[in-house]
Amino acid sequence: MIDRRSLVTSAMALGASTAMGSAATLAKAAAAKPIDPRFPAGFLWGASTAAHQVEGNNINADLWLIENLPGTMFAERSGDAANSFELWPTDLDLARNMGLNSYRFSLEWARIEPDKGHFSNAMLDHYKAMIDGCRARGLNPVVTFNHFTTPRWFAAQGGWHHAESPDLFARFCDRAARHLAGGIELATTLNEPNLVGVIGEILPAALVAGDRAMQEAAARQLGVPLYAPGVALYVQDAKLYRANMMEAHRRGVAAIKAARGALPVGVSLAILDDQAAGPHSMRDQIRERYYGEWLRLAAQTCDFIGVQNYERKVWGDKGPLPPPADARRNTTGAEVWPGSLAGAVRYAWEATRLPVYVTEHGVNTDDDTLRQWLIPAALAELKRAMDDGVPVRGYMHWSLLDNFEWGFGYAHRFGLHAFDRETFVRTAKPSAAVLGAIARRNSL
Ligand code: BGC
Repeated sequence: MIDRRSLVTSAMALGASTAMGSAATLAKAAAAKPIDPRFPAGFLWGASTAAHQVEGNNINADLWLIENLPGTMFAERSGDAANSFELWPTDLDLARNMGLNSYRFSLEWARIEPDKGHFSNAMLDHYKAMIDGCRARGLNPVVTFNHFTTPRWFAAQGGWHHAESPDLFARFCDRAARHLAGGIELATTLNEPNLVGVIGEILPAALVAGDRAMQEAAARQLGVPLYAPGVALYVQDAKLYRANMMEAHRRGVAAIKAARGALPVGVSLAILDDQAAGPHSMRDQIRERYYGEWLRLAAQTCDFIGVQNYERKVWGDKGPLPPPADARRNTTGAEVWPGSLAGAVRYAWEATRLPVYVTEHGVNTDDDTLRQWLIPAALAELKRAMDDGVPVRGYMHWSLLDNFEWGFGYAHRFGLHAFDRETFVRTAKPSAAVLGAIARRNSL
């Protein structure tokens, strides 16, 4: 596994040929009517994490096996991560001290159901303590029931390929929601399920083949026919895997609602700001392929839509156009463009007519000045969309702290805080104060 978004970017850029300008687009935006800087009362200001990326020693999770295989494609093991399994109170203090009023984190299914059908009350209590800890600090808990990783036993029976997978997910949601739903502010079922399968079609074949080889090695090690982790570049049967995830979402929503009908439930989708260039742009085709069925499902089943955006893509008639020469770039070389968040949010609203929470937005960079520049600029465009009537209810930055960026390991950094790999001591980056000041003012 490696970072999917960056791979998509580089893979697609291979086909690109024409240059386009960003200055004109920005100038047009700047000339539009002035933005009202104030955000509505009750707007959620938060930061996000995901269990496998910060907790550490998540040994029953599907990826732990893959990360530790001889010849793994992962740059490094997740290992101790940021030790947030122990240090979650410190993390919550970081969020509160920044001036945020919400925290998005995920439940680790592999801890809650380490063996099929055996649920751990101690682990459910752990997440209950986190939820209570949020409340005690004035942080609204936004809880993702599944952020990519699944239990190893689940992957070993074919993961989301297995006919039982929707029911198994619903059973997990039921147990977790009955224990936890009382304190949760917002729940999401799955994280970015819309890219499953699509990704594998556009990546360099060698990467997909490498991922497949790792899954096959894991299957051999466990003596099972198919080892399919919850996040993968290679998926044996994408159609089946997607259909089961969609059914899992439906049944997961029902299970959470059965525990507490008033709890708002949504799903977080990865949405680029796809822009059309020229008369025969393939943009709409791409949108249908990447998001169509999940946006329709969300509109039917969700109380809100979670939008996760990191970049834009300008589509010509044959593929994406390269970024402008003066574009600011992230660690992987992809363009960082502040308007992309608002573009993705406007699209999600138009497609679903659901209230929007930004559940992730951020930048992969070692240059925190880029993050300090991006946050207010992106929020200004987000507020412009809100002034135009798009019902955005919250903004959660990815990430509260640097973490295990999947196949890239710890060298790719999205955090508002850094941490020491040996001592786990956290240090705020200046961007934390930038976002915190906006959050405290509830105003740009
Ligand atoms: C995921 C995160 C990931 C982030 C940055 C999103 O795709 O939900 O797990 O770390 O983007 O790549």
